[in-house]
Amino acid sequence: MFATLEQTDVAELHQFRDPATGLRALIALHSTRLGPALGGCRCLPYPDEHTALNDVCRLARGMSYKAALAGLPLGGGKAVIMEPEKPYNRAALYRAFGDAVNRLGGRYITAMDAGTEITDLDQVATQTRHVWGFSGDGMDPSPYTALGVFAALDAGIRHRFQRHGARGLHIAIQGLGHVGSQLALMLARAGARLTLADLDPRRAHRLADRLNTQWVPADSIYDVNCDIFMPCALGGVLNADTIPRLQAGLIVGAANNQLASDDDAQRLRERGILYTPDYLNNAGGLISLALGHRQKDNGVIRQQVIGIGHTLSQLLDEAARHQISPAQMADRQAEQRLQGETGKHAWKVA
Ligand code: NAI
Repeated sequence: MFATLEQTDVAELHQFRDPATGLRALIALHSTRLGPALGGCRCLPYPDEHTALNDVCRLARGMSYKAALAGLPLGGGKAVIMEPEKPYNRAALYRAFGDAVNRLGGRYITAMDAGTEITDLDQVATQTRHVWGFSGDGMDPSPYTALGVFAALDAGIRHRFQRHGARGLHIAIQGLGHVGSQLALMLARAGARLTLADLDPRRAHRLADRLNTQWVPADSIYDVNCDIFMPCALGGVLNADTIPRLQAGLIVGAANNQLASDDDAQRLRERGILYTPDYLNNAGGLISLALGHRQKDNGVIRQQVIGIGHTLSQLLDEAARHQISPAQMADRQAEQRLQGETGKHAWKVA
């Protein structure tokens, strides 16, 4: 366990169990240096504790880096719930989780992530005020995440293909959930040619029909002969097995932790594939939650989220200048902010 904490530089790990509801949850706080640690709650049927531990630690670090790079006064944390065997009382499970969050006294703020729905967060909110993005505050981060990825895509296209906009480009989207499906709609409107895939083939089929485009089974998405690959499902999808199969020249996606290991950034570089850092691309949801809590209006939030494109452009220039991968450059810049600044100037966000 300590090896994982050391590897990911996670400062604190909290374990919670509640036999009455079957709750088994981990909450990792990577850093609270710039502000309270914000990060979603993931609920998945993890095969074992080690997988859950790895996931929560890597994701918590990703949240710190994401907030730092986006210039937000927030730290990074994450929660995972090891989903109990079905059937279980979902409302009771999330209320118990809300209790756990509350015990951390505001140092961790929870939100939505894979496997968690707004209705679950509503249950969490009955036990703690340290939850963002539930029905009560009316903030749904997913559309802003999609908007930020769209802005990043524009910047990526400029760098990789020296042209503007997605019109006529062939884009393969992996994962058609909250974010991937919105991106598909936006890109269809922008005139891109799409190939869609989801673990749930009915979902892919339905959306492809609606957009009059094509879909492929989930595992075939890596082999699609396309210009751009967009990972919008789960992490670890860019690895030694999948990278040799990719045909795209550019990767811009919403999924967290797309690279299975640090070596994979180099693998992509060697293949001439421009990889844009996931935690910069997908910061739109986080930005919207942070600004929404400061009562900023929609126009201000959208402008800030669209700014992700500009930040990515600068980062890609810097990475090229230093001859390192964009992923390395993003880590370098985030670490500088995490080490250089303190939470003294943090907004009052919680
Ligand atoms: P979601 O849970 O709504 O959708 C994920 C979709 O991916 C589902 O339709 C699922 O069936 C599909 N999927 C899972 N494994 C797959 C595979 N191997 N191949 C193809 N499809 C697969 O999740 P959401 O909210 O759309 O998020 C997508 C990714 O973006 C996640 O990694 C999440 O952590 C990340 N993200 C989401 C944010 C948000 O605001 N929703 C914010 C930042 C990151």
